[in-house]
Amino acid sequence: MSESKNLFLTNYNLSGLELPNRVIMAPMTRSRAGDGNVPTEMNAKYYKQRASAGLIISEGTQISPQGVGYPWTPGIHSNGQVEGWKKVTKAVHEADGRIFAQLWHVGRISHPVFHDGDLPVAPSAVKPEGEAFTASGMKEFVTPRALETEEIPGVIEDYANAAENAIAAGFDGVEIHGANGYLIDQFIQDSTNKRTDRYGGSVKNRARFALEVTEAVAEAIGAEKTGIRLSPSGEFNDMHDSNPKQTFGYLIEQLNQFDLAYLHLVEPLTDVSDMKNYADNVAVHFRNVYDGTLITCGNYDRESGIRALENDHADLVAYATLYLANPDLPERFAANAGLNEPDRETFYGGDEKGYLDYPFMEETEEVA
Ligand code: PHB
Repeated sequence: MSESKNLFLTNYNLSGLELPNRVIMAPMTRSRAGDGNVPTEMNAKYYKQRASAGLIISEGTQISPQGVGYPWTPGIHSNGQVEGWKKVTKAVHEADGRIFAQLWHVGRISHPVFHDGDLPVAPSAVKPEGEAFTASGMKEFVTPRALETEEIPGVIEDYANAAENAIAAGFDGVEIHGANGYLIDQFIQDSTNKRTDRYGGSVKNRARFALEVTEAVAEAIGAEKTGIRLSPSGEFNDMHDSNPKQTFGYLIEQLNQFDLAYLHLVEPLTDVSDMKNYADNVAVHFRNVYDGTLITCGNYDRESGIRALENDHADLVAYATLYLANPDLPERFAANAGLNEPDRETFYGGDEKGYLDYPFMEETEEVA
């Protein structure tokens, strides 16, 4: 291995959880849960294969039936789902890994087919452009129903209950999914939040839902076991904010009060005009605002990931599709070995193909 000490391979104390390296597996929807959205033995094998990650963050897992918006995605609100997740966490821990559950409510990124014909809920009745992915094909999004103010405490409670379920299922902690245009992000950004109650209007009001969810989850399971993911530049899922620097600057500054396990920032998933708001990338911009552990995610390769750590842009670097395709990514980075290519055709749904069959390093011939 080379001169550069390869900061990837140094350990990191994540609020008391010792991570052996700084290569994080990003949350990725794979749409392979079993009946009842229950995780299976196959899912357990997939995560176990990736247990050498500094930390695994699970795919988005629904906090309630209301939070569902994709077929075959796992939940964490029923007993069966908790039992299913126990298989996953046991497999990961037996392989000396660490895993957080990502808590997900999709809000308007859903369709009545997931809700017995009822409308999906959102902060406001604003229809997203695009189509929902359903078991019977793509269907145009609908205009969601705006949550009543009185319903909001119940949704926050669903997050807290899901967090307790995650700990009962053996997870080391949870990540609140506040990114990528799902429910929490829909509250934060002003293109999707047109509310006139205390959850809408000012930046402070739009940040309130995210902060109340964070407080409830941290109270339920401990702030040291609670992380949150945000995407302050994303236009994915038809999102926009008129002043993301101000909106997310306020929210991130407020998050300091909780002393969370981490803040996880996503660079844009798509090419976006909103990046003009930031001089460099999102992590660099908010590094000075957030006091705690920062994870950065977004199309890093080995070299740019090492650079992000060397330049102190973040403490940990998360990889998505490279992790999907390389179960032993930290070992490959250590050896500067060749990488398997992710196969898009098998990202969502299906069986073991493109899920359990990506080869480990010793099985591949070439090492650079
Ligand atoms: C997706 O399935 O495309 C997806 C799910 C959750 C995300 C982002 C993308 O946060």
